[in-house]
Amino acid sequence: MSKIESILTESRVFTPSEQLKRSVALTEADIAQMYAKAESDHVGFWSDLAREKLDWFKPFTVGLDDSNAPHFKWFSDGELNVSYNCIDRHLETKSDKLAIIFEADDGTVERYTYKELHDQVCRFANTLVAQGVQKGDRVVIYMPMIPQAVIAMQACARIGAIHSVVFGGFSAESLRDRIDDAGARLVITANAGCRGGKTIPLKKAVDEALEKGGDHVRKVIVFRRTKDDVAMKAGRDIDWYEAEAGMSNYHDPVMVDSEHPLFLLYTSGSTGRPKGVQHSTGGYLLNAHATCEWMFDLNEQDVFWCTADVGWITGHTYVAYGPLSVGATMLMFEGVPTYPDAGRFWQVCQDHGVTVFYTAPTAIRALMKFGSDLPSQYDLSKLRILGTVGEPINPEAWIWYYHEIGGGRCPIIDTWWQTETGAHMLAPFPITPLKPGSCTKALPGIDAAIVDEAGQALEDNEGGLLVIKKPWPSMIRTVWGDDDRYQKTYFPLMGSIKNGDSCYVVGDSAYQDEGGYFWILGRIDDVLNVSGHRLGTMEIESALVSHPQVAEAAVVGRPDDIKGEAVSAFVVLNREIPDEGAERDALIQVLRDWVAKEIGAIAKPDDIRFGTNLPKTRSGKIMRRLLKTLARGEEILQDTSTLEDPSVLEQFKKPKRL
Ligand code: WT7
Repeated sequence: MSKIESILTESRVFTPSEQLKRSVALTEADIAQMYAKAESDHVGFWSDLAREKLDWFKPFTVGLDDSNAPHFKWFSDGELNVSYNCIDRHLETKSDKLAIIFEADDGTVERYTYKELHDQVCRFANTLVAQGVQKGDRVVIYMPMIPQAVIAMQACARIGAIHSVVFGGFSAESLRDRIDDAGARLVITANAGCRGGKTIPLKKAVDEALEKGGDHVRKVIVFRRTKDDVAMKAGRDIDWYEAEAGMSNYHDPVMVDSEHPLFLLYTSGSTGRPKGVQHSTGGYLLNAHATCEWMFDLNEQDVFWCTADVGWITGHTYVAYGPLSVGATMLMFEGVPTYPDAGRFWQVCQDHGVTVFYTAPTAIRALMKFGSDLPSQYDLSKLRILGTVGEPINPEAWIWYYHEIGGGRCPIIDTWWQTETGAHMLAPFPITPLKPGSCTKALPGIDAAIVDEAGQALEDNEGGLLVIKKPWPSMIRTVWGDDDRYQKTYFPLMGSIKNGDSCYVVGDSAYQDEGGYFWILGRIDDVLNVSGHRLGTMEIESALVSHPQVAEAAVVGRPDDIKGEAVSAFVVLNREIPDEGAERDALIQVLRDWVAKEIGAIAKPDDIRFGTNLPKTRSGKIMRRLLKTLARGEEILQDTSTLEDPSVLEQFKKPKRL
């Protein structure tokens, strides 16, 4: 494999202030000690941490069992319960502490103490049992972003049922695929959800999904989020509160093996049918817990807000489980960042005194478009740590987030991880010196490296495959029902190199700079090959976005007779799209020259198209497959039902060839 070239240079370094260093729990010495311990005794490091951070009903004696690699087991002879660890163990010291602050789309606020959360989770756990759910059964949760979603997840964990949360934006068809693949016995849903002032029906999709599938589904529990009527099928559907009637506020948590699956979460990937990523109990919770302490420094005073929906892994690890495991107060928000206006996020931060805020670069860029006047109207002085996740954050957005939202005081915690990794893998601690656009270093106990396709280590600044060389506790255990796919997708080097059985191949391209910092270049599948130069998409996009008139950009390759691949750019402007003709041509020329100046002529886009939005999934991922089809001038035959706004495809159809 020829190496992937890095063409963007970012040389700014932000070192932590003395005040910041004094204000966080972990010192440089603590962090250094963790790295040293993990380095010298990988399994011992994680095992000691598991004993220290989690409450075990039955202590484990085996740290890592690799006898059935690459299906690794952690703490496998131990027993515990996740819901007990997230709730019950805090009751003695903080039963009146707020666990959840919930702000609804319409601004209504609800608060749940740890004691109240305990009672609600217990009552719902008893309800699930009464509806026939047993340990190991699969339960599909198709809910809006409301506390009942977390209560349902925690209740499943409490009884040892395996939940599979399906994001509320997915169509009936996608829902059916997931219900069927998991062989779910029960579905938990709401009549509707509320987002941006609109009501989004949910139960209707469940009905549709179950019409042609889901034969194994016995019951559907329906939470009435709105006053809208909902059709109920006799014998199958039951109202949440009716089902809960007479249920006790106490439920004895079911202790399960550490390796018992806690949940499945389906991830689309770029090809093939969705994969049911299977996560474990003990290992998963350990990394969720530890990273809430390491990256977010969560303590007694914090109000933590992760804006992700519970339908994504971020909403599992940093909403439903991690913050509760460490006993923090967390905020849940039902709405969207731009309703009633683009100041909503900042208003929520102000009103609830949010101290640690975690969101996606796509949201930051979208809000950045509205300028700095909006955030400056709110009191954001309580914020102390800011995080990002989901894609590389371009330095432009990083700097804006840092100054305009963080007031230059809050470290930006750029967290690289995946559905499959369960928790943060490459990320700074709050006091790590930061380089905008880099997710910095691998965490203690995470053995990351850059290799070529044969598994050979590459030098500093050489782009290649990002791999994780040793197993870690919160890693994916298998693809539900498809061990073969698990092995082929994530361990393609097995057998071909020494220790290839434990070499997890991430699917991203990246390089490490001379300081050991990681820079993610993009998904391997998206790498462009322009005149023999292999270029990641991230840097070209970042260069485009750094132009004052550009809000967002996506770049894909299209076949080109001469260059191999030509660079096609899809651009969202900060201003009106100029009409076709001289003005638009001039802007295209300006942007091409800009990229040439920023990173070199090789990366100059061959065509640039404009639209008011990029085609994104509802989780904010740019659908590059669709853009590739558009770039080639082909008809779109792919399923576009998961797109946030399908109409944007029309705008981008017309290329402007240069
Ligand atoms: C892919 C995983 C992890 C929760 C949300 C996404 C990209 C994620 C970063 C980051 C650069 C990132 C990678 C990764 N990604 N975080 N901080 N910097 N890229 O979960 O849907 O499983 O996607 O998202 O490409 O492989 P996911």
